[in-house]
Amino acid sequence: MGSLTVRNVGNDVKQRLRMRAARHGRSMEEEIRHILADADAGQTPATGPAVAGSIQTRSTRDPPGVADEHRAILSMRILLVIGGGIAAYKSLELIRRLRERGAAIRVVMTKAAQAFVTPLSVGTVAGGRAFTELFDTASEFDVGHIRLARDCDLIIVAPATADLMAKMAHGLADDLASAVLLATDKPVFIAPAMNPHMWAHPATMRNFARLLGDGVVKIGPNLGEMAEAGESGLGRMAEPLEIVDAVERLLSHSGKDRPLAGRRIIVTSGPTREPIDPVRYIANRSSGKQGHAIARAAVEAGAHVTLVSGPVALPDPAGVTIIKVETARDMLSAVEQALPADVAVFAAAVADWRVAEVGAQKIKKGGSGTPQLALVENPDILATVAHARARRPKLVIGFAAETEKVVEHAKLKLARKGCDWILANDVSAGSGVMGGDNNRIHLVTEDGVETWPSQSKGEVARTLVARIAAALVQRT
Ligand code: C5P
Repeated sequence: MGSLTVRNVGNDVKQRLRMRAARHGRSMEEEIRHILADADAGQTPATGPAVAGSIQTRSTRDPPGVADEHRAILSMRILLVIGGGIAAYKSLELIRRLRERGAAIRVVMTKAAQAFVTPLSVGTVAGGRAFTELFDTASEFDVGHIRLARDCDLIIVAPATADLMAKMAHGLADDLASAVLLATDKPVFIAPAMNPHMWAHPATMRNFARLLGDGVVKIGPNLGEMAEAGESGLGRMAEPLEIVDAVERLLSHSGKDRPLAGRRIIVTSGPTREPIDPVRYIANRSSGKQGHAIARAAVEAGAHVTLVSGPVALPDPAGVTIIKVETARDMLSAVEQALPADVAVFAAAVADWRVAEVGAQKIKKGGSGTPQLALVENPDILATVAHARARRPKLVIGFAAETEKVVEHAKLKLARKGCDWILANDVSAGSGVMGGDNNRIHLVTEDGVETWPSQSKGEVARTLVARIAAALVQRT
């Protein structure tokens, strides 16, 4: 059947058609054909059984138990591309979770993916056949890779293997999965999954950076055990629920509620590590929870976020460009490279000092007495950016983690560092802030001090993002 183009149709009609097509598990073209056929037969169009291989949905009513925050994914037509890795077994669970929320799923599997899960099991869980071949006369004629790429609202690649990411980054299209990914104009989410050495390889990092630059949104990978005995590290695929959650979060903020759309934000997070010798370092107790929450909230508000993070044990927030660093000096150069930006939020707990001379070898005990470490001061990243003549962001925001006279010290810091706002918090031993989940902020600006109630670090982040959005509107 040839394809059908409908022009000059109002948006409301298009929307009704779209909803109806999703409801019946058909493409919009298929739906029009059904309406015409039913009209010819003098019938009211019926729901009818879904065609094998077509997108299938639940009824128009919300699925039982779908909470408000899950509505973003409802009636979405999602194309899942399954790459060939051991994590492919999780794709069955992912399909179930997405369908549970009312999404309609089509699946494309690479050849390697079929070595881990069968098209039959995937098709059974998805409620329609899994597509595997680029040159399959039956499906290419009826559906085809271009239709697969376009007749969906978004694409999730899970697991996104090193090979599949490389193909995507280089625009290869030698199988159905890569051809679909090249042909699509829809948002693409990837859930990378591979051995930590493959993930850390410069080639994968290059491809990954290129994909982020192309607008691909990544979810994970996580730290953890690998399938290979005894191996662990960064490279585990995000869990199915995490993937669903990340997609929902981004979708639910992708409509009108994007007050930071088009804005560039830099966020620093976590501690820095200053080496003493090849095995020892100076660090602090920062968990990175607050900085990462700010990055996440800014992405959800539509910003393009670069997160410069010291070593933390947290998953990378979906949708951010993350630059991982160890030392204060690395953090400064990463921030400078990420400029220009509209806003910079310095939430990292940067080590104030580093060792003047880092030992080339491990410092041994029992030599000539206890070693004396000479320290030198690290560059102040916040002050450097706040005082920059060129490329100073419109809004430069710092944190002040204090154990006494919190507001008083924060006011002095605001002046000394030259920033616009300071978020001061009490990190004394009993406060539970360092590493904890809650925070109590005093917002110190040139206009005065505002004390926020104690709230979760996520809520602090959302409050801050809302304030940033309002301030940017005022300043422009
Ligand atoms: O001087 P103090 O460490 O208390 O300042 C805290 C603020 O300054 C935080 O926003 C922190 O991220 C930033 N800072 C920085 N570079 C440093 C020290 C602190 O950016 N070397």
